[in-house]
Amino acid sequence: MTITHSDVPPARHPERAPAEGELFLPERLGKDELRALQLKRLQWTLQHAYDNVPFYRKKFDEAGVHPGDCKELSDLAKFPFTTKHDLRDNYPYGMFAVPKERLRRIHASSGTTGTPTIVGYTEEDLDTWASVVARSIHAAGGRPGDTVHVAYGYGLFTGGLGAHYGAEKLGCTTIPASGGMTARQVKLITDLKPEIIMVTPSYMLTLLDEFERQGIDPRTSSLKVGIFGAEPWTEQMRREIEQRANIDAVDIYGLSEVMGPGVAQECVETKDGLHIWEDHFYPEIVDPLDSVVLDDGETGELVFTSLTKQAMPVIRYRTRDLTALRPGTARPAFRRMDKVTGRSDDMIILRGVNVFPTQIEEIVLATDGLAPHFQIRLSRKDRMDRMTVLVESETGTPADRRDAAAAEIVAKVKNDVGVSVEVEIVEPETLERSVGKLRRVIDRRKDS
Ligand code: DLL
Repeated sequence: MTITHSDVPPARHPERAPAEGELFLPERLGKDELRALQLKRLQWTLQHAYDNVPFYRKKFDEAGVHPGDCKELSDLAKFPFTTKHDLRDNYPYGMFAVPKERLRRIHASSGTTGTPTIVGYTEEDLDTWASVVARSIHAAGGRPGDTVHVAYGYGLFTGGLGAHYGAEKLGCTTIPASGGMTARQVKLITDLKPEIIMVTPSYMLTLLDEFERQGIDPRTSSLKVGIFGAEPWTEQMRREIEQRANIDAVDIYGLSEVMGPGVAQECVETKDGLHIWEDHFYPEIVDPLDSVVLDDGETGELVFTSLTKQAMPVIRYRTRDLTALRPGTARPAFRRMDKVTGRSDDMIILRGVNVFPTQIEEIVLATDGLAPHFQIRLSRKDRMDRMTVLVESETGTPADRRDAAAAEIVAKVKNDVGVSVEVEIVEPETLERSVGKLRRVIDRRKDS
């Protein structure tokens, strides 16, 4: 039997291949068009949640609101919030708005304690997710034909698979490296020559150290862009990574409850905060204490309502992430959010003063003679809370410079943050390294 040309399937299924630019059409919406689309989608979402999730029906009824009460976007403020507790209480399938057979995938949010939070996706949800991640990679500077090294963990965590399908959707070649096996990661990058890496910023530092350990200057690698997220990181960290790797470092934000990575993305041309893909995710900022909706420009807790999700719509989900909304720049219709410098849960209250690990990161990374690796230890002595910052020295830093560096950090933390801390400079390569999301704070206050 001879195989004719028509027996051979085309390289891309014609109905599946996105037409040139189709993925990016929403980015060209005008502000009014976007607002109108959001309202339509919000009304659909409220009705969908009310009709199909008993939890939402009960909550709306108790609050005396009905999906029909949403006549304009600001009416959303009348609806009740959803919290992580609500998701835990409805474990595992109670928050889903579609029958189980319509789910195509389950993920779970990273949590350190007890019951994980389960999230689910229909086929259309997975397609939406891949599209927003494709848009994110494009905004970061990626193009079809690029190779993307994904070193976010694969598995229940949304980082690996979320990045993966987005990269493929954009038309990129994907290297599903996942986290860990650091020496092998460096070999893969060196041999396969990806242009883009997607990884947590803390694991990127581990990779850069490994390049140097193997005697390879990371500046000579094929990488051009790093898309970093899943944990807070600072402008100082951006500079550190950009200089050491000679790449553009941009921020990607997301959370499993709302979708996964790709809820918001920083554009490489402006690097001025993250544009929220508002055609799918509607943001609000509320005062974390009294829950009042704040104006754009004011810092508070970020709250999201999904606009297109089928399997697990979320209404006014309290992220606990602190940020502010700003007008769009590189994508004018979409608002930006400031880099998330911390979650309300990460906030350390030390003798009455609020301290975020990112404030310490800024100071440590701006001090000469030190490596960008540090850990915060909290302890209690004589009923007083104490914070010790352990920072690794750079190799070869003389003892007097180490002492001076410690004194500089103590003074700067006192001056900028307003608390007294102790600083210990430790030997290079002695602190725990990240292979994914880094644990910055060791809290031993309860043990002491
Ligand atoms: O971390 C999704 C993700 C994967 C985002 C890969 C970006 C890249 P969760 O495990 O559910 O999902 O954790 C979500 O991580 O509420 C923030 O506190 C934090 N987070 C995520 N991205 C950023 C970021 C993923 N760019 C939680 N900056 C969120 C600061 C971030 N914090």
